[in-house]
Amino acid sequence: MTAGTGDIEKAAAVLRAGGLVALPTETVYGLGADAENPAAVARVFQVKGRPPTHPLIVHIGGAEHLGDWVEDVPETARLLAERFWPGPLTLVLRRGPRVPLETTGGLETVAIRVPDHPVALALLEAFGGGVAAPSANRFGSVSPTTADHVRTELGDAVDFVLDGGACGVGVESTIVDATSDVPTILRPGGVTREDLEAALGRPLAVPSTSRVRVPGQHPSHYAPRARVVLVEPEKVVAEAELAQELGHQVGVFLPPAFADAEVKAHAVVEVPASPDAYARELYGFLRELDQRGCDLIIASLPVEEGLGLAIANRLRRAAGPRPSD
Ligand code: TXA
Ligand code: MG
Repeated sequence: MTAGTGDIEKAAAVLRAGGLVALPTETVYGLGADAENPAAVARVFQVKGRPPTHPLIVHIGGAEHLGDWVEDVPETARLLAERFWPGPLTLVLRRGPRVPLETTGGLETVAIRVPDHPVALALLEAFGGGVAAPSANRFGSVSPTTADHVRTELGDAVDFVLDGGACGVGVESTIVDATSDVPTILRPGGVTREDLEAALGRPLAVPSTSRVRVPGQHPSHYAPRARVVLVEPEKVVAEAELAQELGHQVGVFLPPAFADAEVKAHAVVEVPASPDAYARELYGFLRELDQRGCDLIIASLPVEEGLGLAIANRLRRAAGPRPSD
């Protein structure tokens, strides 16, 4: 059930009172608090189980408000905001005095975006301020793309859940450091590198996933309970069957080229051929295979262009070393 006007008003009141609201965005659901209220922001970290040094993204209602939250708006940032907002792009800029250090994890920069979702925009309009919101999942686990995912994972720890249906993009926003005039991609996401490069008229650097570059970018982010193993697409079926024979409960991400294959495994999901559809389904697939009792997931990486870059980034992190390793 999609949120109505009464729900929006109630959610805005919860934010004003320092409470937590789960809100839909076009990427994933966020766990929102008043960005200017350090006590409310502290609760976000507590509920997520996230270390307080991992900065949050501040969601605002329109590009015209950007100047209220940052020290200055460099030309490149202005251009990107005009081109991609509302949309799945987050800009890291120098923090303005309005943003408490609790929200930025102690950094002198702040991450800002305008979400492209009618419910999120209605909430931001009714609330009037900025909403600090990480993805509404426990630290390190898979991001939620439906209101039910949020309720299952966070339950009563959230004061109010706004239901806006399933998220249309399905992977988080692209984060661009725009503090200098040589912008860099800190996290690939819903806006593609190709679209950014076309808008800027120059190539952009993308970090390798093997190094921790910014707080909150640990290799084992976005991980389901089941262990994820990545293999070449043509080896997915054989590896899955071998692991199943060895006694694992194997979940398979069946690549589109092998959609007709019969696989002897515990559970199989068919990867959509379109990257848009794959991004939308990715986190739901990981949750589904966990729920069906898989202890091992065999998958392959998509071609790393367009949204495939963000999908591959999340799969690599899901397969990364766990904190307990
Ligand atoms: O699509 C999204 O971005 C979703 C929705 C809810 O908007 N939000 C999201 O938030 O993915 P979260 O907290 O799960 O990821 C935010 C990322 C973290 O990796 C954090 O390190 C980075 O943004 N970040 C935030 N502020 C930063 C800053 N000042 N400098 C560098 N990275 C920053
Ligand atoms: Mg997250």
